[in-house]
Amino acid sequence: MAKVPTRSATHLDVDLARLAALGLELEELAADGQLALADLLQLADERGKPASHYLAALALADDLALRKNPGPVVKICAGSCQQWGALDVLEHLAARCDRAATFSLVPVGCLDRCDRAAACRIESVHGDLFVDEATPAKLDEALHALGAGSPGR
Ligand code: FES
Repeated sequence: MAKVPTRSATHLDVDLARLAALGLELEELAADGQLALADLLQLADERGKPASHYLAALALADDLALRKNPGPVVKICAGSCQQWGALDVLEHLAARCDRAATFSLVPVGCLDRCDRAAACRIESVHGDLFVDEATPAKLDEALHALGAGSPGR
């Protein structure tokens, strides 16, 4: 059995069939397997669905990814970590990344740190930084420390 946090889950995860359907919507938007975050956010807005659900769907799609920006790469587990707040983190980071493209957002299916959910790894020129029990505030602090802008930018 996979490791899980000793803390109780705080959120429900999104049904896999729903994520698969959202993934198909994303495929229609993509060009050469690449997708602009702004297009994903616009789609979510138009369809009245949370952007974080589309980002979780992206984690399941092997042949689809968001276009990269300069700066650190923020990998967020959108697998079972959803039950410990990963979608809140994704929603926050997507809005922040859209305001100032100072980092890249990469939702993934698992970071093998399931007992530290929500799990996050930031890859930068300074090395890899793991952010355990990630929250929007912890990610803002980490990105600021890595020179990827302040929360308002
Ligand atoms: S399910 Fe999130 S790190 Fe494994």
